[in-house]
Amino acid sequence: MKVIVTGGLGYIGSHVTLALMQEGHDVVIVDNLSNSKVTAINDLHSLGIQPMLKVVDVGNLCSPYWGNLFDGVDAVIHMAGRKAVGESVTDPLLYYQQNVANSVELLLAMQEAGVKNIVFSSSAAVYAAPAVCHLPLIENTLKRSSSPYGTTKSMVEHILEDCKGFINSLSLRYFNPIGAHESGALAESGDGPPNNLFPRILDVARGKQEKLSVFGKDYMTNDGTCVRDYIHVMDIAEAHVAALEFLMERGTTCPAMNLGTSKGTSVLELIQDFYTATGIEIPYEFAPPRQGDPAYLVADSSFAKSQLDWSPCRTIIDACRDGWRSAQRNSA
Ligand code: WQD
Repeated sequence: MKVIVTGGLGYIGSHVTLALMQEGHDVVIVDNLSNSKVTAINDLHSLGIQPMLKVVDVGNLCSPYWGNLFDGVDAVIHMAGRKAVGESVTDPLLYYQQNVANSVELLLAMQEAGVKNIVFSSSAAVYAAPAVCHLPLIENTLKRSSSPYGTTKSMVEHILEDCKGFINSLSLRYFNPIGAHESGALAESGDGPPNNLFPRILDVARGKQEKLSVFGKDYMTNDGTCVRDYIHVMDIAEAHVAALEFLMERGTTCPAMNLGTSKGTSVLELIQDFYTATGIEIPYEFAPPRQGDPAYLVADSSFAKSQLDWSPCRTIIDACRDGWRSAQRNSA
């Protein structure tokens, strides 16, 4: 199949592009380089794949100039967008413009071109923060995000459901992707200092940051630190290939699926896992809790496993080892 991957030079997008092309699909990357580096295309080339690259903002795809971009395209995997929860609180309009308005522009361009199939990169951030229950989240859990970021993801899911008469869609709700392809060739290449836990652990490991701040130590969890469902980014990438094939074979009436391992790991446990995988101790200090952080966010991903015939097959230790290999190779 010929697939457009928006945001295809980003951290998860480049891994999805690799997985698609290793399965024999052709990929056209659409990326505006706002949170990625054009050199990421060389990293993909070094792995023996040659995706086409169009440097354009998704919001401009309705322009007649890009009319032939969709020629022969079977589906779109839509990953372009902003994803920092904290930034979405301080700059909500940027998120509604980039994540919602641009998604509408993309759907209008798809409708004009007659392209019906889209896999959408959604997020666990759509869920209401579970107050005290430590139950894994299922897809029909209440959607009430605690950030504009999560609200934008929820809004696009609703838009896709409302368009199901002429758009076949599947929304994949990522929990916490970490790690890198085993080659170490692909890196998290966002602009500015990272917001997320794992890339910050990598920054401490390579001396770019002296200590890790652990946000909060009095949560109602085993060791008092927040628990998340960390999943290897290549397991996420392979789920996208399975979701695309599911969508093309069966269309869809099921709008969303959780992508996680269904296992929870605390901040302190992840620090220990990183030491187990690499032998590197991560010095840390406790800091005040981060606003909006739920104590526990873990997926029940049994629906995706049953529908997509997919299951995460890599461990947290694999992700720590592969992520560290990538950080060493891309330590600029
Ligand atoms: C994980 C835990 C922090 C940094 C992510 C992405 C978001 C979306 C949802 C995909 C939290 C703690 C963090 C640090 C810390 N992903 N932490 N010290 O908050 O679960 O959200 O998943 O759509 O884009 O942000 O992930 O990695 O930011 O934080 O203690 O320096 O680590 O408090 O408990 P989060 P995260």
